[in-house]
Amino acid sequence: MERLAILGALHEEIADLLAAMDPGATIHRIAMRDFHVGTLWGTPCVIALSRIGKVAAAATASIVIREFQVSQVIFTGLAGGLHADVDVGDVVVANTLMQHDMDARPLFGQHEIPLLGRVQFESDAALSKLLHDSAQDFVRRYGAAGDPAGATLAQPKVHAGLIATGDIFVSHNDEAQALRKRLPDALCVEMEGAAMAQVCYEFGIPFAVMRVISDRADHAAKTDFTAFLEKVARVYTAGILAPLLKSGALSAA
Ligand code: ADE
Repeated sequence: MERLAILGALHEEIADLLAAMDPGATIHRIAMRDFHVGTLWGTPCVIALSRIGKVAAAATASIVIREFQVSQVIFTGLAGGLHADVDVGDVVVANTLMQHDMDARPLFGQHEIPLLGRVQFESDAALSKLLHDSAQDFVRRYGAAGDPAGATLAQPKVHAGLIATGDIFVSHNDEAQALRKRLPDALCVEMEGAAMAQVCYEFGIPFAVMRVISDRADHAAKTDFTAFLEKVARVYTAGILAPLLKSGALSAA
């Protein structure tokens, strides 16, 4: 059976998806993780919590691909905004991802994945476009309705571009500035996407990464991230994925 994998790093990011799975979903425990296998809004899925960081994301991606024969993988979660246009409440859908902390110089180029000969990983264009369009519809509805969680967000925007991944929660202005200078095209920073992307690339499995901006990767990042995680993360994830899964767009892709 062709299944879609949906992965998130924290429980709050996938909580509403798990709650919405059809009764009868089975849980497979592998490598200290629970893999929820069943149907979500009409689409056969496996949903799992990867936990945080590149190793955790890579391990989880390998497991869903090998054990559950998934035909595509979506990673969803929060990120810190880097680019000047990217505000809290915006959505970023990756078209490329890279590992900003990979540096095996002078043996290899900066950011190059050793022995793979590449810096960036491209997400699946069709899958990413579906997410982007659904995110556009969602932020229009969400912006118009006002934030149910009571936060004061401006009309959120949806961006497509480069996501930078590393094993660092960026919470100092100088770190964020250094990243902006080194990677002027990076829209946001997070801790899993490019690791999952590398594994999917190596297995030849199409993937997409969708991130909601919880903070600006600065001194306020911890507070902003925590508030956003508690109040808003799940609303976005379910609000963007539900129409796509209900329409069958992802089971046919
Ligand atoms: N995910 C959400 N905010 C982040 C930040 N500031 N740094 C890394 N990952 C994040």
